Amino acid sequence: MVSASHRSGARVSFADWPYPAFVAHRGAGVLAPENTLVALRTGHSFGYRMFEIDVKLSGDGVALLMHDATLDRTTDGSGRVDAQPFEALARLDAGSWHSAGFAGEGIPTLERIARWVLANDAMLNIEIKPTPGRERETGAAVALDAQAAWRDTGVPPLLSSFSAVALAAAREVAPELPRALLLSELPGDWLERCMALGCVALDARHSLLDAALIAQAHDASLRVLAWTVNDEARADELFAAGLDALITDAVDRIAASR
Ligand code: G3P
Ligand code: MG
Repeated sequence: MVSASHRSGARVSFADWPYPAFVAHRGAGVLAPENTLVALRTGHSFGYRMFEIDVKLSGDGVALLMHDATLDRTTDGSGRVDAQPFEALARLDAGSWHSAGFAGEGIPTLERIARWVLANDAMLNIEIKPTPGRERETGAAVALDAQAAWRDTGVPPLLSSFSAVALAAAREVAPELPRALLLSELPGDWLERCMALGCVALDARHSLLDAALIAQAHDASLRVLAWTVNDEARADELFAAGLDALITDAVDRIAASR
């Protein structure tokens, strides 16, 4: 159910946090080929209604789902993702590397995934993951695509990135879309960094988090997400410490609701 306050790009506030507590990582990127439509369908079949995806640009600026800067690990192509136009990338097989049953699965555009998410009562956490050197361009392009796809409908996607440059560019073109700063280490000025980017959330490697840190974030009106939590006991521990949401590969072991 979409609340009226989330239509027309209304801001997501601490009090009005619309997202579920369980988010499927890379779609459901272990049971199915990561960052593909079939990965999201798989997560959905296990009851997950929010999906983290990695998004970057093709050579001709199309926002698409891919974790790595190169094609080699997760497709039958090779070289940098941004060395080819999307027309060429669309012909690649992004499923066979995972298992034969997924042969022929393609690299989806963000636009295609947005349509599926909106049609299937789901939400997105779009990780802006630029290829090196394209941080600003990627942040702006992804935010504009998201703004267009969610205009007047649905719960806006949560944009996250390890790149402050990408988040700042996203903020410039679509200030109303909620942002989260991703951290793999905890710098002393993490809170200032979140505030400077106008973030609504801290999205941290789970091993960085404890009750004191989560309380500190909450005191600053920041929500807290943890990645990537694949252990049920650790999930329980983090929620007991006040965690708002976790990102997991283990959609078959960690129930999508509590
Ligand atoms: O968005 C959280 C998590 O996905 C960050 O790590 O490498 O899986 O994109 P990675
Ligand atoms: Mg990611």
